[in-house]
Order: sequence, then C-alpha cells, then structure tokens
Amino acid sequence: MSQVQKCVDIINQHIKDFKPQIGLILGSGLGQFCDNINIRVTLDFNDLPGFPIAGVGGHAGKLLFGDIEGTNVVVMQGRAHYYEQGKPDVMSVAIQTISSIGCQSLVLTNAAGSTIKKASPGSVMLITDHINMTGVSPLFGADGNERFVDMVNAYDSELSDDMRASARKNNIDLHEGVYAWFSGPQFETPAEIRAVKTLGADAVGMSTVPEVILARHQGVKLCALSVITNYAAGMSDNEISHDQTIAFASKAADTVEKILISYLKSQ
Ligand code: HPA
Repeated sequence: MSQVQKCVDIINQHIKDFKPQIGLILGSGLGQFCDNINIRVTLDFNDLPGFPIAGVGGHAGKLLFGDIEGTNVVVMQGRAHYYEQGKPDVMSVAIQTISSIGCQSLVLTNAAGSTIKKASPGSVMLITDHINMTGVSPLFGADGNERFVDMVNAYDSELSDDMRASARKNNIDLHEGVYAWFSGPQFETPAEIRAVKTLGADAVGMSTVPEVILARHQGVKLCALSVITNYAAGMSDNEISHDQTIAFASKAADTVEKILISYLKSQ
C-alpha cells in the first residue's frame, strides 16, 4: 500500500464523514491562526507515513481537521523545506494526501523577503506567479505525461480575486507580485537579489514553490500569500535572520488572519 493510501486510511480512522473543502499550509510564525479553527481532530505529522518531520523553529508539524465559520478545512501547521534534507519532493505525500481526501483548493502561506520598497516588513503580498531559482523540481522521478504540468495560471485567478476582495473588506493593503524560490538555508547575497529583481521577482523565499508544483500536478487549485518579514539582502542596514523572520511574521499574523477568515467565509 502506498504511503498516501496509508495516510488516507489513518485519517479516515480518526475522523469519519468529514470532507475538507480547503487545505491551508501555514508558514513560519503563523501558527496562531489555528486558534480560529473549531478543531475536530489533530494528527501529528510523525503518525502519518511520508509526512515531513518538522524541524525548523515555528513549525509545529501537525495536521488539523475542523471548521472555520462553517467551512471545513485541513490545516498543515508547519511544512518541510528543500533545504532540510535536499529533497525537493519532501511535501509530496502531504500534498497528495490532502488532494486524496477531497480538498479542492489550497491556500499556501509563507514568510518572504521583499525586493520592492513599497512592500515593507509586516505587509502581506499575494503571489501572482513565481520564478524557480533552484533548478530542481518535486516531480523529478515522476512518470506519466501528467508530470509535464502547465504552470500558466498556477496561482488561480478566481481564488486570487477572492483573496483581493477579502483584503479590501478588511481595509488591508494587499501587495501583489512574483515570488522567487531560492533553496536556502542561507539567505541570498545582495548580488542575487539584484539579479532576481531584474528578472522580475518582488519577493524571495525558501518554500511554497514545490508545493505549488505538486498541487498543480494533482489538479488542485491554489492561491498563496507571503508575509513580508524583511527587505531582501542588500536593501536595508538591518541584519537578516530567522529570528527576525519569526518576529515579523508574528507581527503580521493578525493581518493574515483577517484576510484568511474573510476568504474562508467567501468560499
Ligand atoms: N530570503 C529568503 N527567505 C526568506 C527571507 C529572505 O529574505 N525572509 C523570509 N524568508
């Protein structure tokens, strides 16, 4: 039996007659959002074969099932990154499982550095497209013609419109832009930031893109938000650190929370 099928069976043993409509993946420092969930079941990633072992500060490693304002959700509190073990498909079983239990759409969140002055630390950006700077894919080794995934409109335009409307409803200034995925774990050099800025990146980070590719491979629609935790390397005198990422993500958590709750109500 595949790991995905094992995960689906374990989930079905713990929660019956529950179909999540939307899946959410919460990035660094956004764990407080879980306080909004009317939780029915919590599973540890460690109890789900093939799910990542969460290893970075701010990543809890739990899969939560419940509802928010009547919308059934499954929430990944924490994710794994390519840089942890050099495995681009580390989120593969998790995304396939979420798809297999009937989730029709995903909301991905992350922490990111901004390459544009107007998107300052503490603000939030809707991702409209991405640039994969790593040269790797979570679909390496996959077979079948489905592996040749169409990445046009990967960030679903209707769901993104719903996200824009949710920000407007809450009088939140939602930036928009292109996210560039770097492998990490080191932060970028100022030269790398100048380079990706020239290529069209508005934000940089170390996650999300593999999940987007995996979700599109499964035919799952998605939209994504970046919490801007810092200006990217070379743009300010402040030192960039993971502590700063967590601190600013927590500061912006209220803003993200408002947008997400309105978004979930609108679905
Ligand atoms: N670069 C990469 N990843 C990040 C950053 C950054 O500046 N900030 C938060 N995550």
